[in-house]
Amino acid sequence: MTSTNSIPFDTDQIRSQIDHAMGAFLDTLNLPSKLDEPVRYSLLAPGKRIRPLLAWASAQAAGGDGSESLPVAVAVELIHAFSLVHDDLPALDDDDLRRGRPTLHKHAGEAAAILAGDAMLALAFEAVSKVRPHPTTDTHAKLITQLCQGTRAMIAGQVYDTLGGFDDSLSDQQKIELIHTNKTGALIHAACVMGATAASADQPTLDLVSGFACDLGLKFQIIDDLLDVQGDPKLVGKALRKDDDANKLTYPAVLGIERSKEIIGTLHRDALSKLDQIGPASSGLRLLLDLMTNRSH
Ligand code: IPE
Ligand code: IPE
Ligand code: MG
Ligand code: MG
Ligand code: MG
Repeated sequence: MTSTNSIPFDTDQIRSQIDHAMGAFLDTLNLPSKLDEPVRYSLLAPGKRIRPLLAWASAQAAGGDGSESLPVAVAVELIHAFSLVHDDLPALDDDDLRRGRPTLHKHAGEAAAILAGDAMLALAFEAVSKVRPHPTTDTHAKLITQLCQGTRAMIAGQVYDTLGGFDDSLSDQQKIELIHTNKTGALIHAACVMGATAASADQPTLDLVSGFACDLGLKFQIIDDLLDVQGDPKLVGKALRKDDDANKLTYPAVLGIERSKEIIGTLHRDALSKLDQIGPASSGLRLLLDLMTNRSH
């Protein structure tokens, strides 16, 4: 089925609603200025807001208008910002540039970066408590579980990526799939299933959104690996050609550029087949899938 009668999905307009919601949420908290400033610096920096956009489009796929997803979109972006701040620390990837600006530890020091990351992890769960109208206890528990699963898998992925500790029986390809589906795929998955859940998705739609998110999440990180090798530093807003120097397990390093592109193509087709089954309500997700395929940053 192709998406006829697609529903409106204006990425710039949704991004600005998301940024407004994130700022408004922080305004309610009255954090100490030494915490508020670094949290705003990283959370409100000009990122693509892919995860919140996915939450919005997933809510639409479930029959909502998208806005039901705003509190969960804020929650997932808070976890994402926390993951980036800690990912950039000297103990992990040791990066100086993020979203075209100095990384948080370069801007405000390591202590502020560690503590702002800690705070954003907690604030994400507070953001979920702002879902309105009040969800049933069951739905609220489901949202919290989805957020916990995405977050702990992201951290598990960062552990594999940084410290290793793989089962001896795994091939390099299995290791790299394990890293990517966890460090990046899991939070993209949380964004999608939380958006759909916030819009009261029925189980078949939730299953299709979940399957789509798994395909897209892996694809997204393989593209990130390719951008590290082939991207334009002026467009990406972060340091490139670093993965190889750091001996990272990446798709291009393990399988080569051509095979990585073939896998991206297969994941793209798999993702599309789930959207076809959802039908016209998945048009926002389809647009995001295309946007991510052609991304230069
Ligand atoms: C960067 O994520 C880290 C990865 C998981 C690859 P994004 O590419 O979504 O970064 P921003 O939010 O747009 O800066
Ligand atoms: C990021 O992977 C995964 C996270 C959980 C942040 P990368 O280390 O490849 O992300 P970039 O390239 O620094 O954005
Ligand atoms: Mg990393
Ligand atoms: Mg990194
Ligand atoms: Mg990368």
